[in-house]
Amino acid sequence: MTTRDGPAPIQLIVNGQSRSVEADRDAPLLSVLRDDLGLLGTRTGCLEGRCGSCTVHVDGRAVQTCTTPLWSVTGRKIDTIDGAAPGSAIARVRDAFLHEQAAQCGYCVNGIIMTIASLIAGPAAPDRGHILTVLDERHLCRCGAHPRMLRALDRLLAETAA
Ligand code: FES
Ligand code: FES
Repeated sequence: MTTRDGPAPIQLIVNGQSRSVEADRDAPLLSVLRDDLGLLGTRTGCLEGRCGSCTVHVDGRAVQTCTTPLWSVTGRKIDTIDGAAPGSAIARVRDAFLHEQAAQCGYCVNGIIMTIASLIAGPAAPDRGHILTVLDERHLCRCGAHPRMLRALDRLLAETAA
């Protein structure tokens, strides 16, 4: 729908808040989050759905925002790393990564944290092998920070099991 002055605003629910965005309906969610809403925790990487650095949650599922058009998330629940509430799955994963200093440049890490958080927040008990398979499929890290990330994951899983 358009108004006399341009496209009608699109309503989003981001980090628990209702937000109104005036942007092209086909714009990638990534650019809307960063450029329109100023949520810079979601990183820009390959822009081709290959690196995972742009991952957020949409209705609790990990989604790559560079290939997600704005129109497809209208009215849906979007969570980014910027809005991690204390005690939330996102905050727990982030804190485990911080504790283990699990990053080099840090560019890939926010997306990895979001994917792990979506997996541990599910109804089933988190399975280490499954988490690693998903990370292998969806994320790239060029810095060789993997050993520290694995330590962070193991710390998180131990805390979750306690
Ligand atoms: S920037 Fe989205 S997957 Fe790489
Ligand atoms: S820590 Fe640099 S790309 Fe992963």
